[in-house]
This record gives sequence, structure tokens and C-alpha cells, in this order.
Amino acid sequence: MAVRTYLVTGGAGFIGSNYIHYMFEKYGDDIRIINVDKLTYAGNLENLKDVEDHPNYTFIRADVCDGEKMMEIFNENDIDRVVHFAAESHVDRSIKNPDVFVRTNVLGTLNLLNAAKAAWENEDGTFKEDKKFLHVSTDEVYGSLDDDGGYFYETTPYDPHSPYSASKASSDFLVKSYMDTYHFPANITNCSNNYGPYQFPEKLIPLMINNALQGKKLPVYGDGKNVRDWLYVADHAKGIDMVQEKGRLFETYNIGGHNEKQNIEIIYTILDCLREILPDDDPRKANISEDLITYVTDRKGHDRRYAIAPDKIKKEVGWEPDTMFKEGIRKTIKWYFEHEDWMKNVTSGDYQNYYESMYANR
Ligand code: NAD
Ligand code: TYD
Repeated sequence: MAVRTYLVTGGAGFIGSNYIHYMFEKYGDDIRIINVDKLTYAGNLENLKDVEDHPNYTFIRADVCDGEKMMEIFNENDIDRVVHFAAESHVDRSIKNPDVFVRTNVLGTLNLLNAAKAAWENEDGTFKEDKKFLHVSTDEVYGSLDDDGGYFYETTPYDPHSPYSASKASSDFLVKSYMDTYHFPANITNCSNNYGPYQFPEKLIPLMINNALQGKKLPVYGDGKNVRDWLYVADHAKGIDMVQEKGRLFETYNIGGHNEKQNIEIIYTILDCLREILPDDDPRKANISEDLITYVTDRKGHDRRYAIAPDKIKKEVGWEPDTMFKEGIRKTIKWYFEHEDWMKNVTSGDYQNYYESMYANR
């Protein structure tokens, strides 16, 4: 079998690094991965330490907004698959500074589409065989659901509310336009909230674990009853791979495991798990208390509820999540607990300034 070459963008981030681990574990030497990442605050090569010496792994530090560089990478490598994760991904940051979201998420995606199209298109406008582009997107493009029901289907109209989700929706539409206009060989996946190892502690779960371990306040936005539909990150990686290999080209697939939780429930679960995991003689155990929970000013335009209907990916592709929440959250908390150095490294430097600016007067 020929070795298949993947171009993964944003592979040094949370989901991208988990995806690269998943793919090498599954395919070993049968694949080659080129990871293109700008290494923003969210990208961290430590996430990939155990694959950095793999003979089939290459890292290129580059910005997806650099169109010429993207063309060059395609010219120098015979790319078979693109899996496009690179993005600005945090809603709160997008509320403070939308511009970089449009640049990276929209223009960056356009550059990649153009580079892949230039490399893969034949003179007659058809595309070379077995070339595929997968655009990784979010359920947030569908907007917000009411507390009392409903799900996001692939047919749900787009209704993004935050600058983040609006930029992701724009990038989805660009990918769709390339499929519709040029018959460009692509898929889009829209996934629910992920959790697991290597997530940057600006997002709910690692932020609460890190704060609780340090005895710092746990800042809950609004009434704490907003609902997110949580999926273990390895199950997302598996879904992406299955869509690319078994899905129908030009289709969108929603990925989610029917695991809706209120934010406050997540925080109680984290506190319970930490109490269970920390040994009695660990001085941090005394910090773990519900008294740390602090209700703060709500996020502007805060979406109430997200919930994915994964019927299509289950039926057409045969995808099912492997990790149930009870097991996944325990594994995740244990991972952060056992990787204190990782947490210390990513929260040194700019993180303190970020935290001050987001939470000091909230
Ligand atoms: P992340 O913020 O952890 O990682 C993003 C990565 O992209 C980082 O390594 C960063 O350095 C890189 N990057 C940013 N700008 C870049 C640029 N201009 N050029 C090259 N690289 C750049 O994000 P994540 O949570 O891993 O999300 C990955 C993708 O999955 C995003 O497209 C996001 O929209 C999507 N998604 C995320 C979730 C979630 O729950 N985190 C859910 C569904 C979909
Ligand atoms: P987040 O992890 O930022 O993901 P997203 O906004 O993309 O869903 O937030 C998850 C939920 O947790 C969301 O409803 C906002 C809430 N939240 C808090 O209550 N406090 C916090 O400090 C953070 C970061 C999030």
C-alpha cells in the first residue's frame, strides 16, 4: 500500500495534536503527516513530543494566511489528504478582538482551498483521484437552542452569534462554495464541544481544573445553566478519519455523542473527581470546595444550549463514540493532575495577562 500523505493544519493545538496521536496509533508507518502550525498562544509543540522523532512526521511553522507558503507546501509535497484544524477558537477572545478570527478562520481557509485546488485540479477542471480536503468546524455555526428541546441537524440553518462562530460559518460557506462551484473534493464536519488532554486552560474544563487545584475562584458565567454537548476528543479524531475514509464526498456530517450537561454540573463533577483522585496527604485537597464557585457577569451574546443530532454520521459512516462522559472526564482530570508541568508551561507568560484582562473586573 502506498504511504498516504496528510497535511494537518493547527496540529499543535488541542484537537489537532490529539488527532495526530490518534492517526499514528491507528495507521503507524502507512501514513505520513505534515503538520503546519503558526504556533500562536494556543499551539504547543510539547503536545507532540512523543511523535516529533517519528520518521513519517514533519513540522512546518507557517501561517495559513500566507498564501504563497501554502502553495509552496503543496508544490513540494504530494498531499493526499488535508485536515484543516488551524483556527482561532475561543469565543471570549473573539468578543474582545474579532479581526484575527476573520483573518485566520476565513482568509486562512481560503488560502488552503486555493493551494489544494491548484495542486489537485487537472487541466479539464476535474480533480486527481483520491484527493480529499476535510474542514473541521463547529456546532456553534447553528446558533443557540432553547432549554426545552431540539437538536442541530446538518439541515439546520446557520445562525452564528459570536464573531468566532460567524468566522467559522464563513469558512464553512467558502468550503461549500468550492464544492458547489468546482466540484472540489471536500467534506465539512461540525462537532460539539470537545474535552480531553492538551486543551488550553482558557476553555471551561481545563480552566476549572487548574483553578480548583490552586484554590482559585471558579468563575461561572450567568446562571451556570447554559448547556454544552461534550465529546471526548479521541472520538472526534475517530469521526474525522471515518468521515474522510467512509463518508460521501461533498457532504457535511455533525459529530456529537448526545452528552448534554449544564456548565454548573460540569463544575460539580470536576470537584467530585478531584476529591476522589487527590491523595489525602496532598495539601491541595483542602482547596477543593464548592465555596470556590463564583457567579460572574455573563458572556455577551452567550448561546444558551448546543446539542448535536449525530444520526447521519452514525447511519452512513458507522461512527459511535467509544468514551462515555463518566470515564472520559475522569481520564481527563487525571491527565491534567499528572501533567502539572504542562499546565505550568502553558500558563506561564501571557496567560496571566489574559486571565487578568478577562476576569479581573467581571
Ligand atoms: P486550539 O485553539 O487549541 O488550536 C488551534 C491551533 O491552530 C493552534 O495550534 C494554533 O497555533 C494554530 N493556528 C492558529 N492560527 C493559525 C494560523 N494563522 N496559521 C497556522 N496555524 C494557526 O483549537 P482546537 O480547540 O484544537 O480547535 C481546532 C479546530 O476544531 C478549530 O477549527 C475549531 O473551530 C474546531 N472545533 C473545536 C471544538 C472545541 O471544542 N475545541 C469543537 C468543534 C470544532
Ligand atoms: P468554552 O469552553 O469557552 O466553550 P464554548 O463557549 O465554545 O462552548 O465555554 C463552555 C461553557 O462554559 C460556555 O457556556 C461558557 C462557560 N464558561 C464559564 O462559565 N466560565 C468560564 O470561565 C469559561 C471559560 C466558560
